[in-house]
Amino acid sequence: MENDILLEAKHIQMTFFDTKDDGLHVLDDISLTLKKKEFVCLIGPSGSGKSTLVRILGGLLEPTGGELVYPDGKEPDPRAIVFQNSNLLPWLPTVDNVALPLLVHGVPKKEARREAENWLQLFGLGDFANEWPNNLSGGMAQRVAIARALIQKPQLLLMDEPLGALDAMTREQISLELMAFREQIDATVLMVTHSISEALLLSDRILIYSGRPARIIDEMKIPFPRPRQPELRDTIEFMSMAKVVRKKIFSQESGQ
Ligand SMILES: Nc1ncnc2c1ncn2[C@@H]1O[C@H](COP(=O)(O)OP(=O)(O)O)[C@@H](O)[C@H]1O
Ligand SMILES: [Mg+2]
Repeated sequence: MENDILLEAKHIQMTFFDTKDDGLHVLDDISLTLKKKEFVCLIGPSGSGKSTLVRILGGLLEPTGGELVYPDGKEPDPRAIVFQNSNLLPWLPTVDNVALPLLVHGVPKKEARREAENWLQLFGLGDFANEWPNNLSGGMAQRVAIARALIQKPQLLLMDEPLGALDAMTREQISLELMAFREQIDATVLMVTHSISEALLLSDRILIYSGRPARIIDEMKIPFPRPRQPELRDTIEFMSMAKVVRKKIFSQESGQ
């Protein structure tokens, strides 16, 4: 029988020894389970080690304690990470930035470009395929970065404050686009965000992180059925859920 768990992080600890003699203890004891095709948001204070956890789950950083367990016996493949900065290659036109992961895997250029164009269309950027990345707005560049991750059909998609550098309106617009695409994306998603409404719109579950050294101090299931519509934000259920999340975050920030 197929397992419905993609990965389990068990008692992950991270201490950086390159800063102070006794080390900077960033992650204290992080345990979490990600189910297949689940969308989980992680909310927590700045500097608490959210990016550190993303790098560990992405296989970019080895934790100093604990382990990652894959019930299927193999690591999620592929894993894609979207950062706050788009990190587009300025010498490649937009379409080739999106196509790049496919090209690296040997997909013929014509096919890779066609697929990349489809993704750009989905994000309303069909007319910008041949544009240079430097000519894109911040919101467009971030859409391109997300398209470049999605084109790989990742089994695990990690997003580290992907909309964090954008203005509020662009941010809201892109989160609605992500909500609309959700049904087409098979990935398990872990997204770090500071926005409660983003987390409520997009996720199946919200994890709340403590300050450093970080622990997961609370977890909430988000019961809104899918597909979700933008009007969800105007409902009483949504607003009262936002209030509960805010209260949980606030109560731990003030040490209660
Ligand atoms: N490679 C590293 N070496 C030393 N300290 C690091 C390293 N990476 C992150 N840190 C420190 O770990 C802490 C948590 O960082 P980070 O994971 O980026 O937090 P967050 O994403 O929650 O803001 C910060 O104090 C940061 O300076
Ligand atoms: Mg961070």
